[in-house]
Amino acid sequence: MASRVMSFSVDPSARGRRSMSAQTSTSRRAARRGAGRRGSAPASAFTPESIQEAVIGHMGPTVQLALSALGGGAAVALVAAKLARGAAAKDSATQRGRTPMTRGTGVSDDSKGRGYLIAPPPLFPLVPAFARQTYRYEVDPGRMWFFEQKQGIGLGLNVSVNVRMTVIKLKTGGLWVHAPVAPTTEMVALLDELDAPVEHVVLPTTLFEHKIFVGPFQRKYPKAQCWIVPQQWSWPVNLPPQFFGINKTGILGQDRAPWEDEFEYELLVPPALGVASYVSFVEAAFIHKPSKTLLVTDAVVYVSENIPDCIPDRDLEESGDDDNFTIRALKLLNLFDIKTKAKSRTMTSKDMSREELLRLGWQRNALQALYFGPNDLLSPEESWKEITNRLVVAPVVGTLVYENVPEPVNAWARRVAKWDFNRIVPCHFDAPIRAGPREFLSAFSFLPSSRPENAKGRGGAYYPSEDMILLRGVADFLLNTGVIFTDETRPKRPNI
Ligand SMILES: [Fe+2]
Repeated sequence: MASRVMSFSVDPSARGRRSMSAQTSTSRRAARRGAGRRGSAPASAFTPESIQEAVIGHMGPTVQLALSALGGGAAVALVAAKLARGAAAKDSATQRGRTPMTRGTGVSDDSKGRGYLIAPPPLFPLVPAFARQTYRYEVDPGRMWFFEQKQGIGLGLNVSVNVRMTVIKLKTGGLWVHAPVAPTTEMVALLDELDAPVEHVVLPTTLFEHKIFVGPFQRKYPKAQCWIVPQQWSWPVNLPPQFFGINKTGILGQDRAPWEDEFEYELLVPPALGVASYVSFVEAAFIHKPSKTLLVTDAVVYVSENIPDCIPDRDLEESGDDDNFTIRALKLLNLFDIKTKAKSRTMTSKDMSREELLRLGWQRNALQALYFGPNDLLSPEESWKEITNRLVVAPVVGTLVYENVPEPVNAWARRVAKWDFNRIVPCHFDAPIRAGPREFLSAFSFLPSSRPENAKGRGGAYYPSEDMILLRGVADFLLNTGVIFTDETRPKRPNI
């Protein structure tokens, strides 16, 4: 470990010779404002070990409800979107202030390997499939760090967000790792620079996107203890976590962990959601008591103008391009009345400055991740205003998961809101969020239903009804075809 620590300076201001191997989010944003990208081609060819680990790591998890719905939903969405009606289009991408970036400056290291192979799962093509860049942020000096990588859906859909691993130093001097990301050579080097042993790894969810890296991460840190939420599953064959390289020390809620003097946690264990009787959306919320920080996985998000450093400019340029694959497909099928909306625009992507184009790309990218398809992908300013700069349950989670099991979700949110915290760290989008129990509880105000006629929130509807047409169509399709269970159709689960 010592040699790794010595091999790379973490000083984000260090430039010159070291700029060959280190880059910061500051330099990245500067590059976005400037005329071109910084020279940061992903380093590293694959090593045999990285390929082997990635393949083994991928074998474990299988598609789960929300994600399979998302992947399969692309086709369903095209049909459901026929219902879409146009809303007034806004043509100019007005500049708005960014929210304070409180996670500090990111550090990356392009001298280290980023190769990480993810073979496409059968129903959900997670990307990047071959290489992942990692950014590390020191949130609390010497105590808390974020590690972020890009994660998205393939198929040319331009839907990528950041996925976050949070690392906290315990009183023992060891590290507690929440929701590991891909253990590339770069990520391991950045983690080892903290010069502390990885003592505990926590898998806080049953969801594919966070589960797939736990086994490979454990092989990098075999002495670390591993704590997982209960009811892990795989589909179509329900195999135990050990089959996928996850060697648990204990199950949260059943076994006592040595770090429980510094953390408390609350488990959300809803009944089965669909697909199979064992498929559920389990999540653990943690409070790190010394820092009054709430850690969640997918329960809430805070979307803002802050573009994650790990989303490459080329992704944003492609998303911002009015002739990208998704928009051309929508025009071909004239979904969302997009041809009419296109005619009413006074400015196209070709007329925009580079900064405007990147911003538009981020808006489209994020909105597609949140809704599958917002009302007006060409000019998403109105949709953007409605969902940004507030703590929310992501529409896809709220619609496909929480509103179908509102009682346990409400009860869990109320238990969590009893803790004393003043900031929230989810695994996607912005963080840390300056928010406490009141804001957290408010994020669940759409329950028991987020349907527009019943929902509460900004403007009378928690989610804008125009943006929910596609997602609602997908949810109704899945409910009507029995893929998502209702209380009436849910099979009995013998071990719960
Ligand atoms: Fe997630």
